[in-house]
Amino acid sequence: MASVTSLTDLVSKQLTSALSAARPETSADPLLRRSDRADFQANGILALAKKAKANPRELATEVVSHLTTGDVIKDVEVSGPGFLNITIADRAITGNLAARYADDTDRLGVPLAAEPGTTVIDYAQPNVAKEMHVGHLRSAVIGDALRGMLDFTGEKTIGRHHIGDWGTQFGMLIQYLLEHPGELRPASEVDGEQAMSNLNRVYKASRALFDADEEFKERARKRVVALQSGDKETLELWQQFVDESKVYFYSVFEKLDMEIRDDEIVGESAYNEGMPETARMLEEMGVAVRSEGALVVFFDDIRGKDDQPVPLIVQKADGGFGYAASDLTAIRNRVFDLRATTLLYVVDVRQSLHFKMVFETARRAGWLGDDVTAHNMGYGTVLGADGKPFKTREGETVRLEDLLDEAVQRAAEVVREKARDLTEDEIQERAAQVGIGAVKYADLSTSPNRDYKFDLDQMVSLNGDTSVYLQYAYARIQSILRKAGDVRPAAHEELELHEAERALGLHLDAFGDTVFEAAAEYAPHKLTAYLYQLASLYTSFYDKCPVIKPQPPRDVAENRLFLCDLTARTLTKGMALLGIRTPERL
Ligand code: ARG
Repeated sequence: MASVTSLTDLVSKQLTSALSAARPETSADPLLRRSDRADFQANGILALAKKAKANPRELATEVVSHLTTGDVIKDVEVSGPGFLNITIADRAITGNLAARYADDTDRLGVPLAAEPGTTVIDYAQPNVAKEMHVGHLRSAVIGDALRGMLDFTGEKTIGRHHIGDWGTQFGMLIQYLLEHPGELRPASEVDGEQAMSNLNRVYKASRALFDADEEFKERARKRVVALQSGDKETLELWQQFVDESKVYFYSVFEKLDMEIRDDEIVGESAYNEGMPETARMLEEMGVAVRSEGALVVFFDDIRGKDDQPVPLIVQKADGGFGYAASDLTAIRNRVFDLRATTLLYVVDVRQSLHFKMVFETARRAGWLGDDVTAHNMGYGTVLGADGKPFKTREGETVRLEDLLDEAVQRAAEVVREKARDLTEDEIQERAAQVGIGAVKYADLSTSPNRDYKFDLDQMVSLNGDTSVYLQYAYARIQSILRKAGDVRPAAHEELELHEAERALGLHLDAFGDTVFEAAAEYAPHKLTAYLYQLASLYTSFYDKCPVIKPQPPRDVAENRLFLCDLTARTLTKGMALLGIRTPERL
């Protein structure tokens, strides 16, 4: 199906030609924006006038003389110091939307990027044998949404769940399991909750022993060495911890209504083999140097207390490799084997210094060239409704699962109150979609680098900028389409449009441009803001323009139903990109 050029693009192109017809020797961007005064305003003439040393108002008039009004631009006038106010023909708006509506590829006519790249996106990275917390929630939700948006633009995305599955703590865990066999049941026999509770028990017990018993501590240390040297029995026990943890991770991701692929769970341990080589190369190139036995990288601008340089540790003095070595080795894999053009990390902003050092090291080593972008989309902390760090009343970190369960329960109350004719099963199914959607949307609608308040009351509210509000808007449209009976949606390009129809129509046209912008800037909140505004514009359209009652003439009714349906499709598509469902009935 042919893709549709947005009206913004069409008008921009016409303006660009008019600008260059007026001043062929100077190039300028027309800077077209949606505007309250007309449909669009172009502000680019001011800059062009400056460059061309012309009077802006006169230049504006000249540009207008090069514009053809008619099919697309109905009217254009010069305003203020040299702006252009542009009005679009009703026929062009409806025609454009009709073409989007006819696209049977579920893309609403939005074209794919001309030259897509490959983004390796590192997100949803919990740690083995540990409970997931709200920080892991943010990485998963934001990462999944970014991926949805990037995929839609045509970018090739490869997921990497860099789970914490390696490190000295495994010495203690494995040694304990060896001395207390049977404490973990085989992964195939447990569900997520049992897996986590077994892991928790083993973790606590082994920790207690480790802290209290010097001899156990020593045995645990030796076990680390055995693990690192690839001892078979040790590795088998380690694998048990990983498998058991995965059962738990999958159960949480399922609750989150998020698809995680097994081949994309590539944790820290996957890079073990390459780490010695990473270290050797860095040392040979002189990027890393020996300092007190350790292999480290220094940076001029990164200093800590007393102005002492803070180095990145590639290899510890005892020969062990850590977090940085695995990330550096992962970069080699992602750039040279996966052929990434962009490396995206969705990781807590508190790790931004780590990534700054890792990226800089990789640049010095030549592993990250000019053709590869590396970016840590560091997200802020989740706060409680009181604005303080999110903790239980007892001061413990909140278990992610409890939080999700509570969100679903709250959502069930909202759904139950509104829809009295639903069965209990239906209520529960909708409640999951509403509750999980609410959690995701609240996270995504805050600019990611800001802290955000986890406030369930606000999240499941029917009013305001929430996913429930959008889900209701969608479900209401479905109910209108059902009630319309044999009047079916159909575009009528010859009809004159009401102001509210025009505003809705122009906004619908901007969907693709918005997704591209939000994806390029890694800004899911730009898409949520777009969708929220879409629902608001729809509401005022519906208030002002009767669709079925009182009954308008048939062609008007059909055209309005068409606007309703396209709004619904746009809402559901946009929400789907963010990982949020839109139930047909609520
Ligand atoms: N597992 C880590 C944590 O829980 C996050 C891993 C982030 N990704 C990476 N490539 N370092 O903090």
